[in-house]
Amino acid sequence: MAEEPKPNDLWYPDKQTVRRSHVKDYDALRARAATDLVAFWEERAKELKWFKRWTKVLDDSNKPFFKWFVGAKTNIVHNALDRHLATPTRNKLALIWEGENGDLRTFSYFALAREVCRFANVLKSMGVNKGDRVTIYLPRIPELPIAMLACAKIGAVHSVVYGGFSVESLHGRIEDSESRVLVTADGGYMRGKAINLKAIADEALQRAGTVEHVIVVRRTKEKVNMEVGRDYYYDELMALPMSRAGTNGRCPTEVMDAEDPLFLLYTSGTTGRPKAIIHTHGGYQVGVATTLKYAFDMKPEDRYWCAADPGWITGHSYIVYGPLILGATSMMYEGAPTYPYPDRWWRIVENYGISILYTAPTAIRGLMRFGESWANRHDLSTLRLLGTVGEPINPEAWRWYHRVIGKARCPIIDTWWQTETGMFMITPVPSFPLKPGSGTKPFPGIQAEVLDEEGNPVKAGEEGKLVITTPWPAMLRGIYKDPERYVQQYWSTYPGKYLTGDSAKIDEDGYFWIIGRVDDVIKVSGYRLGTAEIESALVSHPAVSEAAAIGMPHEVRGNCIYAYVILRAGQTATPQLVDELAQHVAREIGPIAKPEKVEIVTSLPKTRSGKIMRRLLKARAQGLPEGDVSTLEE
Ligand code: PRX
Repeated sequence: MAEEPKPNDLWYPDKQTVRRSHVKDYDALRARAATDLVAFWEERAKELKWFKRWTKVLDDSNKPFFKWFVGAKTNIVHNALDRHLATPTRNKLALIWEGENGDLRTFSYFALAREVCRFANVLKSMGVNKGDRVTIYLPRIPELPIAMLACAKIGAVHSVVYGGFSVESLHGRIEDSESRVLVTADGGYMRGKAINLKAIADEALQRAGTVEHVIVVRRTKEKVNMEVGRDYYYDELMALPMSRAGTNGRCPTEVMDAEDPLFLLYTSGTTGRPKAIIHTHGGYQVGVATTLKYAFDMKPEDRYWCAADPGWITGHSYIVYGPLILGATSMMYEGAPTYPYPDRWWRIVENYGISILYTAPTAIRGLMRFGESWANRHDLSTLRLLGTVGEPINPEAWRWYHRVIGKARCPIIDTWWQTETGMFMITPVPSFPLKPGSGTKPFPGIQAEVLDEEGNPVKAGEEGKLVITTPWPAMLRGIYKDPERYVQQYWSTYPGKYLTGDSAKIDEDGYFWIIGRVDDVIKVSGYRLGTAEIESALVSHPAVSEAAAIGMPHEVRGNCIYAYVILRAGQTATPQLVDELAQHVAREIGPIAKPEKVEIVTSLPKTRSGKIMRRLLKARAQGLPEGDVSTLEE
């Protein structure tokens, strides 16, 4: 039996895990890939289907605008669905879905492909063409992956907005992407309540003028406002002949250039509004399929559950595209992990025989609070591998996950990556010795370094900035409509190297330890928020003249938000106003962004050039030394 690990101790996998692993000697594979990155990725690409192969694997003639699999023709849906229909995978379950209210739906690969075809035809009937953007704002229901795949199939570019986001977040994303079609729902269930997404969408649409058609999935069946000539019910369109308009009721898969955009996904950065990260059909599919196969050691017999939301990159890469490309069976659950009791997740693991569970430290910490008896009531023996993502995992959470959920049998695969990277970048594989809290080493074909301010690699054990030094196939291809910002934000601090925005250490054994963001991004429950977004939401309230937001450590959520607000002249600070301001942020951005604390102040610490010194606010809030204040304005 494997021993209970202690922080910083090595945890070795058992023989059986090594024997069944795709990768048996990780260091050797990493070393081999490092000698010829291009050849490594080319070999992986050959494992997928292409309508036409590439003439060049990597084009780096216009750095940092790298291109992968140049000249190749493909479509990610061809690999995720179409090709399986000619194999026995056709009849295998692609998706098992459980609603929070107990509803159950399952889709074989054949059935999923059929639904995707139909919805693709519906989109076409609305005039959606190759290259058009479609915004998808749905709860965690099967129509979310169906809509994404339908867009990809016809070459449209999906822009999924997380269902937990609210009016302004949705409005900003619709407007920036200039979507003409919005796919949404009457609502979804969360903690036993029906959340009316359509009402939020209606409000966002009043602010955004580009949308011509809204497709509404009926989930809660509650009455919602339907605007004549604009809003249509999904089920009604799917029942009409237009959904079977293609040859034999199918919809041909559009032949795409490997570098054609697949999706936009908005994420928070250092300044301003969230920006749209661009991912493409060709390199992205190679990156996600390879990493999922190796790091989670995915096999046809697995029942895999990534408990994230498809609206985030984790869901895009590892609920929708990755598992389908590998022909896996995925679980999807609509609601809260604690509804109606804190054992809902463990019940799902037992009920469906889940073998791989992938979640975030915040969820583990949240469930840990309820004690282990909830988990112990269930048979979790089908689990063989546990994954984590989104923020550093603290040793207590690691050990609890490992001991209580994994019964000290399952390796914990701590995957470090980002919306921008598209795929796992630093991760162990199951055959590799683990250290609790470390993602171990960069994936084969990935070169990472930790640098000091001058750009020199720091010594072992010292903190520095994490960079990626060579291109990788699933890398972002830029920021939508803003190529300059792409170069400036990611490639200019250390010219030629990709800046992650994280600080990290490398220990004596070459293991990477992520410390956290070093920019103005705050990770709340693993969700990425920008101080700028929160501040602009606060300032949009009529009582506010200036605002500053900072991240503060939080036991369960990792970080929470503290906001400092200067009121406009004539406004009085009252407890009601403080409460209203916090609610206002939740209404504009989403409940995840709601500040834990709003403090009304008369001034904010600023540099002489007028920049808010958030570092100082944070030090003060934590009661820590203020550090260098020489730039502080008197
Ligand atoms: O700070 C790192 C943290 O999440 C950031 C990326 O956030 P996002 O683009 O929303 O993608 C999250 C899911 C891939 C990173 O810059 N992060 C992600 N994974 C880990 C992590 N921090 C520590 N350990 C991880 N495994």
